Amino acid sequence: MTTFDSLKKEIESIQDQLNAGTNSAAHEGQKHVHDVISALDTGKLRVANKVGGSWVVNSWVKHAIMMYFRITEMTDMEIGPFVFRDKIPLKRNYKELNVRVVPPAVARIGCFLEPGVVMMPSYVNIGAYVGARTMVDTWATVGSCAQIGADVHLSGGVGIGGVLEPAQAAPVIIEDGAFLGSRAIVVEGIHVGREAVLAANVTLTSSTPIVDLRSKERSIIKGYVPERCVVVPGTLEKDAPNGLGKIHTQCAYIIGERKPSTDLKTSLNAALRDFAVSV
Ligand SMILES: CC(C)(COP(=O)(O)OP(=O)(O)OC[C@H]1O[C@@H](n2cnc3c(N)ncnc32)[C@H](O)[C@@H]1OP(=O)(O)O)[C@@H](O)C(=O)NCCC(=O)NCCS
Repeated sequence: MTTFDSLKKEIESIQDQLNAGTNSAAHEGQKHVHDVISALDTGKLRVANKVGGSWVVNSWVKHAIMMYFRITEMTDMEIGPFVFRDKIPLKRNYKELNVRVVPPAVARIGCFLEPGVVMMPSYVNIGAYVGARTMVDTWATVGSCAQIGADVHLSGGVGIGGVLEPAQAAPVIIEDGAFLGSRAIVVEGIHVGREAVLAANVTLTSSTPIVDLRSKERSIIKGYVPERCVVVPGTLEKDAPNGLGKIHTQCAYIIGERKPSTDLKTSLNAALRDFAVSV
C-alpha cells in the first residue's frame, strides 16, 4: 500500500461516477482533487514515474487534473498592472523550492520544479515536472504533464507539448542532461533519451521519421530519440499521392553522438544556472 493508494481509489471512483453521467461527482469529491493538485505542486506525486527503467503513466492523476478544471471557477487575478482571468491559480512556492523565476515567467499550480531550476520568461503548465538545475529559457513552454529531467536545457522558444487527454496517453519525456536547441518542438509523447541533443528547429511528433545514420544500415525510428544522439532537422523525398511527382516532408536525422565539440556548443548558458550571476 503506497501513500497515495487511497487517494487513487477515491479519484477512480469519482471518474467512474463521471463516466456514468453523474456530473456532480467531481464537486462532491473536490477535497480529493485538491489533495492531488497539492501533492503535484509539492513534488510528492507525479503524472508519470520511472519504474525499473520504463516510464509508467499514472492516468488517475491525469483524471484528477481534468476534474480540477471542472471544479474551479473563472476568476480575475491581478498582479501589479497585469490582470488575468482563469480557473487555475499560479504557482507560488518558488522560494521554498529554491528555483529562480525571471519575470514574466509563469507556472501554474500543480507543476513541480526541483531545486536549481531557472525559469527565464517562459511557461510551465499543470502536471509538468521539471528536474533539478534545468534551464527553461526565454519563451520556452512546457506543456501539461510533460516530464523533464535534471540538467536539461530547453533553449529559447522550445515547445514541449502537453497531453491531458486521453488520460492513459504518455506525456513527453525528456531525460536528464538533454539539450534542446532554439525553437525545437517535441510533442505527442515523444521520449528523448538521456543527454541527447536536438538541434535548433527540430520538430518531433509521433509521426516524424527519425532517420538514424549512425551505422551503414540506415534505419527509421519514431517516437524515441536514443541517448546521447545528435539530431538535426531535414527532409525526406517521397512520392506524392495520385502520382503528382516528388515531395519533401519533414524528418529528423541522427547524425551521430555527442562529441566534446557538441558539448561546447550546448553549454552556453551555464552562467544562467548560477543564482549568483544576474543575466
Ligand atoms: C546540433 C548542434 C549542437 C551541432 O551538433 P554537433 O555535434 O556539434 O554537429 P557538428 O557541428 O559537428 O556537425 C556535424 C554535421 O552535421 C551538420 N549539422 C550540424 N548541425 C546541423 C543543423 N542544425 N542542421 C543541419 N545540419 C547540421 C553539420 O553541417 C555537419 O555536417 P558536415 O560534417 O557535412 O559539415 C547545432 O547544430 C545546434 O543546433 N546547436 C543549438 C543552437 C541553439 O539552439 N542554441 C541555443 C541558444 S539559447
